[in-house]
Parts: sequence; structure tokens; C-alpha cells
Amino acid sequence: MDTVKHAVLPVAGFGTRMLPLSKSIPKELLPLGAKPVIHHVIQEAIAAGIEHLILVGHAQKSAIEDYLDINAELDQQLRGKGKADLADQINFIPEHVSVSSVRQGKALGLGHAVLQARAIVGNKPFAVLLPDVVMSPFEENLATDNLKVMIGRYEQVQRSQILVEPVEQKDIHKYGIASPLNADFAVNTHQAIEVQGFVEKPSSDDAPSNLAIVGRYIFNAKIFEYLETTKPGAGGEIQLTDAIDALIKTQGVEVLPMSGVSFDAGDMRSYFKAFEVFSGHHLSSMDN
Ligand code: G1P
Repeated sequence: MDTVKHAVLPVAGFGTRMLPLSKSIPKELLPLGAKPVIHHVIQEAIAAGIEHLILVGHAQKSAIEDYLDINAELDQQLRGKGKADLADQINFIPEHVSVSSVRQGKALGLGHAVLQARAIVGNKPFAVLLPDVVMSPFEENLATDNLKVMIGRYEQVQRSQILVEPVEQKDIHKYGIASPLNADFAVNTHQAIEVQGFVEKPSSDDAPSNLAIVGRYIFNAKIFEYLETTKPGAGGEIQLTDAIDALIKTQGVEVLPMSGVSFDAGDMRSYFKAFEVFSGHHLSSMDN
């Protein structure tokens, strides 16, 4: 059976929605409570059983690779001072998990970014986690549950998995939107929804529903073939959503509504909300 052990994290974007905060600090390294955004996302991946992390980065964002690297000197110093807990937090990637990185030299879109991981992923199934999206810190189980459930489903049915959640009408234009076959589907259940296609960033008037792609996906290597032939779409970029739309028509995919709450940490307004929630959560754990 094909198990899912690889995860691709596209981190090449300039984070223009987070400027000037993201001018010299990658948006993925901005704080969310006591940890940078990407730290939460990687912990989610590892908790779901991922063993190979593949960053698709950019020359100006090598600080992310440094953050994930082992800092042996600091580790030794902290342990020498009896601060093993802190040392464990800064070197939080377990030994059985590897980190590789590839570069996306040209900003040609999310689909193009995922395609850059092909040489490392090979023929194996893999997860994609968009590091802008962070799951709620409140219910530890729920936060990792979505990816775990998706991987479990993939391993059972060997079909690509796409996580979705309903969004407000005014936010539809920011997302990949599903076109469900039936109007009556249940959300917050992990019950797969029958979907006939996806459209990237439609206007709310043209949108087939308000079910948005959350930023967690499981694919088999077939997606690379679709990505290779995907033409630039919304915003003139090679969109992952367009490749999924093509995949759905030939192979079918499973579309799962997410459990819990997600936060978009890639947009100033929602980042502030996320910051409040995550730091509040951290503060209350310090008080206990
Ligand atoms: C990307 C995807 C979109 C998805 C969204 C989730 O858009 O293209 O389909 O709904 O992430 O956050 P971006 O936020 O990179 O514009």
C-alpha cells in the first residue's frame, strides 16, 4: 500500500499582503503566539505521520531553511544551562524527519511551485500544506485531525484528497471554490462531498458555492502530469486548483469538509486575528 510520508510546503511567495512586516522576515517566520507560523504547520505535518518535508523556496527566503536547521551550538549551550525544554523547542524536528528544499526561481504560481518538488517526491503520494493556513490551537487533536484523516482516507481509497470549508460570501474571491454536485452536504463531518469541479478565485456572483479549498491536499504523483500541462489561469498564474479540476474529471478526487477552525496568516487582517488567538492560547498555558 502507498503510504503518505512526503509533504510539500510552498514558501517562495513574497508575502506582499504582509508588507512591510514581511520585507526582510519571511511571512512564514512571523510569530503566531510563541512560535513562527511555519513551526505550527510543520508540527501538524509531523503529527500526521509526515517524514519528509520539502520546502519550495526562493533565494530571499533562506531564513526558513535556517530556522528548520539544527543549531548544535545553541542546543549544547541551552542543555548545559539546564534548559533542555527550550533546546527541544528550537530543534523540534525529530531525527526520523528529513527536510529538503528546492527553489522556485520564477513566481509562476502555486501549481508551478508544487511541480518543482517532483524530482524529490518521485512516484510517491504526497501532502501539500500551504503554510499561510494554520489550524486552531485550541483543540490539539482537531488541529492535526484533518491531515491525519485525509492521509488515512488516501491510504484506504488511493484517491486524492482536498480539504474544504465554507467561507463568507465576501471572501469567495480569495479562494479555490468547489462546485458540489448536490446542494445538501454536511460540513464539519469529514464526510466526503461529491464535487464536479473547482474554480480558482471566482467572483462571488460566478462562484458555484462558498466551499473553499483550505490549503491541505493529498495527491498521487499523477497531479504532476496535470500540472505540466496546466496553462496560466487566475492572475496569469499556473494554478494548482486548475490541475485538480482536470484530475477530478479523469480520476476523481475526494473532497472533505474540515473540522475545527483555520486561520489565514498570510493576510494582515486575518493574521492579526490569528495572532490574538494564538498568543491568548499561549498566555493561558503560561498562567496554568
Ligand atoms: C491558494 C490557492 C487557493 C486556496 C488558498 C487557501 O491561494 O490557490 O485555491 O483556496 O490558497 O488559502 P492563495 O492564498 O495562495 O492566493
